[in-house]
Amino acid sequence: MTNLPLPERTSVSDAIDLAALSHDFLWGTATSAYQIEGAVTEDGRSPSIWDTFSHTPGKIANNDRGDVACDHYHRWREDIGLMKQLGTNAYRLSIAWPRVVPGGDGPVNPKGLAFYDELIDGLLGAGITPSVTLYHWDLPQVLQDRGGWPERATAEHFAAYASAVAERLGDRVTHWATLNEPLCSAWIGHLDGRMAPGLTDLTAAVRASYHLLLGHGLAVQAIRAAAPAAQVGIVNNLSTVHAATDRPEDVAAAHRIDGHTNRWWLDPVHGRGFPADMRVVYGVELPEKPGDLATIAAPLDWLGLNYYFPATVADDPTGPVPHARSVRRPGVPRTGMDWEIDASGIETLLLRLTHEYGARKLYVTENGAAFPDVVRSDGTVDDHERQDYLDQHLAACASAARKGAPLAGYFAWSLLDNFEWAYGYDKRFGLVHVDYRTQARTIKGTGHRYADIILRHRSRAQRAA
Ligand code: IFM
Repeated sequence: MTNLPLPERTSVSDAIDLAALSHDFLWGTATSAYQIEGAVTEDGRSPSIWDTFSHTPGKIANNDRGDVACDHYHRWREDIGLMKQLGTNAYRLSIAWPRVVPGGDGPVNPKGLAFYDELIDGLLGAGITPSVTLYHWDLPQVLQDRGGWPERATAEHFAAYASAVAERLGDRVTHWATLNEPLCSAWIGHLDGRMAPGLTDLTAAVRASYHLLLGHGLAVQAIRAAAPAAQVGIVNNLSTVHAATDRPEDVAAAHRIDGHTNRWWLDPVHGRGFPADMRVVYGVELPEKPGDLATIAAPLDWLGLNYYFPATVADDPTGPVPHARSVRRPGVPRTGMDWEIDASGIETLLLRLTHEYGARKLYVTENGAAFPDVVRSDGTVDDHERQDYLDQHLAACASAARKGAPLAGYFAWSLLDNFEWAYGYDKRFGLVHVDYRTQARTIKGTGHRYADIILRHRSRAQRAA
């Protein structure tokens, strides 16, 4: 860890209405197992679909892979130290299924669970509330070999794995998420092929989407049975969707993208079933069994929103399902991922979840931006574009809270620069810079900014108490 004096802090923009955020607001950072842990062959971990995918030449920028990543498996104590330096009081991590149940189903690997056991104790000892996500895309390869998410058995195995983890950690962990961004697993992993397992098969994708949500519902039951005090939610990446023009065809395309991106994932979980219009668009029979919809719709304690960018779309009748293409809005600023920056989207979505879906508690479980970072000769990283992004999005979150969204926490993506899936290590989202050669960590300007915002919120809350 680089122990540099903190640069002089700029004052937090008054645009962030910190008074709108509750006194016990969770200020967190987020990561996921495959993106940071490394140690892919240690202590009995079996390969996941991401090991297979990243080891397939041509799938990942520079043929990067998560074999070492941020070496968090060995450096987690140092990383908790960074969280403390940032002043965060929460941390969202994911558990690697192939560490805990290397066979996909069947026996639990004690060493795999022991790693998370120690990590949770370390977090709690540092006054940091752990928020545990059970599935952040790293399906054991052995289950993929048996058909993966398009098969119903995978949902059942997921619930058994969830039960084993909740039994072990549920005495100390209260915040649980079943899935992270099932949209990416289903649509990007099985339809676009840009993520593991790299399929381009509409039937497989729709079946995977169904079984992911069924697995979510079964896991909710399993977690609650093992840990009755658990607060359980699901994490979705949602977008605001705009039609490129007011032509009826483009407006209809925007409605389809809203279905594909948002409603397909929200409606079933809220007891509304799978959207009828999208069933027609996909034209794939769902592998439904009696009782499944009720399982999927198990009431949740909270909803997680991952927000990065809005979508602007036009009709594309000859393009792939759902027959819509993205349109670039000229003059709109973009991140290093080429994603549009539009902070109003996070407010719109928080209010939509509140009013349209009746959310009782909301967390922003991810939000952040990649920009090319440079460590200067004095050891600092002046990432002012990311700082602006953070300020703007936090201001929009606070505005949503002021308007009634039950927002209970914000988790910046990400604590560390990490393995950004198909982009490898090229794209840096961290509040903390990682030098992958030396594993040196350096808190970026945005990390200091975040620490300052947290401190101000905390002081204000203490004054008001
Ligand atoms: O890095 C990812 C994360 O794994 C899931 N949500 C989006 C992030 C940035 O692309």
